Amino acid sequence: MRVVVLVSGGGTNLQALVDAAADPAYGVQIVAVGADRDGIEGLARAERAGIPTFVVRVRDHRDRVAWDVALAEEVLAFEPDLVVGAGFMKILGAAFLTRFDGRVVNTHPALLPSFPGAHGVADALAYGVRVTGCTAHFVDAGVDTGPIIAQRTVEVRDTDTEESLHDRIKVEERAMLVEVVGRLARESWTVDGRRVRVGVAG
Ligand code: GAR
Repeated sequence: MRVVVLVSGGGTNLQALVDAAADPAYGVQIVAVGADRDGIEGLARAERAGIPTFVVRVRDHRDRVAWDVALAEEVLAFEPDLVVGAGFMKILGAAFLTRFDGRVVNTHPALLPSFPGAHGVADALAYGVRVTGCTAHFVDAGVDTGPIIAQRTVEVRDTDTEESLHDRIKVEERAMLVEVVGRLARESWTVDGRRVRVGVAG
């Protein structure tokens, strides 16, 4: 399965996918890594792995729709079967999503539908939940509202800061994302309403 990964930051989730994809039995080829900004470690990780990269910045486009279209065209050029948002911090609009109908996966550092958005870890900590975690989901037109593929839990400690909690979530998140992307590649899936079944071909 050809996969394009989108990143905005450090790219540790990307690295986990790159490492997994080194084994042909994993069933995934990461054909490109795209970003919405320059100079990030996520892009450097891709370059070190010999994976093509591209950057599409919002500020270089007249509006968000033009940016969506430009990003979609860059991604389409690599003919992916699946697009994975791995710490990609922009909302993908309809102009992007219609071109990749049901084939965009995102990972989020909270147990959706709780704590969507850009501050999932801080919001969960501030709310006082005792258990949080991470969610892999298909992307729809909402903010972190698409059908859920997998989730893993992480207990909140009394001593946690946003950073310490996020670090433990990311350990689970990397393993979850590697498992999810590999299974989607090898076993296919169906989506029935909100319910995702991996291993049941559509
Ligand atoms: C991950 O925890 C990911 O879930 C989060 O950013 C981190 C990226 O880490 N994404 C979001 O919060 C999206 N709303 P990484 O760059 O080391 O993979």
